[in-house]
Amino acid sequence: MEALFKSIQKCDNIKDLERLRVEVFGKKGYFAAEFAKLKELEGDKKIAEAAKLNAEKEKFTELLNFQKTSLEKQENENILKKDAVDVSLYGNSMSAGALHPVMATMDKIIEYFVSLNFSVEDGPLVEDDFHNFEALNLPKFHPARDMQDTFYFKDNMLLRTHTSPVQVRTMLTKNPPIRMICPGAVFRPDFDLTHTPMFHQIEGLVVDKKGVVSFANLKSILEEFLRYMFGDVKVRFRPSFFPFTEPSAEVDISCIFCHGKGCRVCKNTGWLEVLGCGTVDQNVFNAVGYKNSSGYAFGLGIERFAMLLHRIPDLRSLFEGDLRLLEQFK
Ligand code: DAH
Repeated sequence: MEALFKSIQKCDNIKDLERLRVEVFGKKGYFAAEFAKLKELEGDKKIAEAAKLNAEKEKFTELLNFQKTSLEKQENENILKKDAVDVSLYGNSMSAGALHPVMATMDKIIEYFVSLNFSVEDGPLVEDDFHNFEALNLPKFHPARDMQDTFYFKDNMLLRTHTSPVQVRTMLTKNPPIRMICPGAVFRPDFDLTHTPMFHQIEGLVVDKKGVVSFANLKSILEEFLRYMFGDVKVRFRPSFFPFTEPSAEVDISCIFCHGKGCRVCKNTGWLEVLGCGTVDQNVFNAVGYKNSSGYAFGLGIERFAMLLHRIPDLRSLFEGDLRLLEQFK
């Protein structure tokens, strides 16, 4: 009995304590055996022995409870110590992402035209011949189709070569006045320093009643836009040809690298070509059933803008997903 009492006092973990509890109070334990012995006693002896055992029982219960609570408390403290977190430690550094420079440039352009009340329209990447070419005054076998190499599918379907088909789709579903832009991916089978098979354009179109929209409006809106994008640059309009506009122009800005003095980027001309535009050809209005309308349109390559703004020499690097390039745009 003394030995058991001592073991319980010395016990230093809950598992052993439970084992000792069974040794004391279990069916085959100390008290079961002691109480069984009472049968052999009689009278006062039996009463005295029983009272002694009951007092012992109380002592054991008290001791076991005491040991149990203090061991549990200690165990909890050990767990807290083991799992403690040092909140003052530095964490692993997490690297934040950023918008791809092409998307950031696209957003910047969209923001400008939305502030001028242009709507943002959308169209499918897989187009048919009618919307991509025919309705834009590019009939089959017209030599100007060679300006844009094309990925063809079966059944007159193709990957759109420019965002201009969205002009056609918008005019077929809405009536003038129209003020729209359409940003999106376009596709042509080219691959070199300045061409990738997929790139992005933004198309703009403004249409109103005949006589309301003029080339002068187009000129002023694009001049303002290009100064918003590139700062204090000179802007010049060069006569050009697009089947869907007449007259047409290509627009240059004074070279932002040499300020017009001539350098490698502008090929010593002092000018950088940045977009195409013109007043909408009457044949385009005919194709969508617009009568007595006037309008202007423009189209630009977003990658070209991004490359100029961020001085990126090789277009292909925009699509290689190299983090060393992308991390510079945080
Ligand atoms: N669609 C032409 C291209 O991809 C760009 C363009 C030029 C669009 C003149 C226009 C425009 O709307 O008027 O080369």
